[in-house]
Amino acid sequence: MKSYSIALIPGDGIGRDVTAAAWTVLETAAGHAGFALTVAEFPWSCKFYKDTGRMMPQDGIETLRGFDAILLGAVGWPAEVPDSVSLHGLLLPIRKAFVQYANIRPHRLLPGVTGPLRAESFDILCIRENTEGEYSGAGGRVHQGTLDEVAVETSIFTRAGVERILRFGFEQARSRRGKLASVTKSNAQKYSMVFWDEITRKLAADYPDVEVTSYHVDALAARMIMAPESLDVVVASNLFGDILTDIGAAIQGGLGYAASANINPGRSAPSMFEPVHGSAPDIAHLGIANPIAAIWSGAMMLEHLGETAAAGRVMQAVEATTVRGIGTTPGKDSTKAITAAIVAALT
Ligand code: IPM
Ligand code: MN
Repeated sequence: MKSYSIALIPGDGIGRDVTAAAWTVLETAAGHAGFALTVAEFPWSCKFYKDTGRMMPQDGIETLRGFDAILLGAVGWPAEVPDSVSLHGLLLPIRKAFVQYANIRPHRLLPGVTGPLRAESFDILCIRENTEGEYSGAGGRVHQGTLDEVAVETSIFTRAGVERILRFGFEQARSRRGKLASVTKSNAQKYSMVFWDEITRKLAADYPDVEVTSYHVDALAARMIMAPESLDVVVASNLFGDILTDIGAAIQGGLGYAASANINPGRSAPSMFEPVHGSAPDIAHLGIANPIAAIWSGAMMLEHLGETAAAGRVMQAVEATTVRGIGTTPGKDSTKAITAAIVAALT
């Protein structure tokens, strides 16, 4: 029997609740489809930091390298560990070390879910550059704590980095409705963003079947709300993609439905799958977190592993559940009840 080894990092807060739910669904789906998922669970989290002084062991990255994929819940417990420490100690190093340069986030309304917009028929795939740009971590502070203090944080855009994410966007557009929105702010940022626009134009010649339009990020943000149905694939830098995908989550009904995949397209290292929502300390362990974003992320993991049919069946089960009004109203159905309904709908 085909078998895939998965590293499970529940992390903090509701990350633990939703990964447990996702795992139940994925195991059931694997059983039906006739493949196996083996799991190794790692307790790396803010609690682990409190105990050991690190978010993950020194050899954490090397430990993860041998797995077929990583499923992650959420990282962060700001009351005890500053987010800048917890995220730079676990999530962000994994994305960078494993060259997970494409962060894929689907935004569409599941049946039965009511979003805040009148438009209901949008289907947007955001592709966020995930390893460089504004989140490169290049910078420093001088004269710290004094009135003369200076903080510098430099965005890094490399030709290789911009080309590969744009190519990924073009390929995705080609496999969908053939439309690509390339997002910059080249009217104000005249080096990096003009560079991005130039590379977009250059690559467009290789994809004559894709209709590419360059947008400024402010205009694209408005378009996601005013005319989301006009968008297909959206490709953006790390910061812009981060912000736009929270708009995407909002218009699809909330973070409870926002899934993501951190993909290493070259497959030189494992990819990582995680819901976009954070650890939500206010509702941690109350049993009311919506597991759908985590389960959808799990479906994206199955797809990446090549188990396309099983991935499709997980999404069908999710949709068969939401269409009945289960998991569509915050706080109404428990994590367990939503999970049980999805498991029951799996064929
Ligand atoms: C996300 C999150 C992270 C990011 C944070 C927690 C560092 O907001 O995945 O969108 O910005 O990458
Ligand atoms: Mn974000």
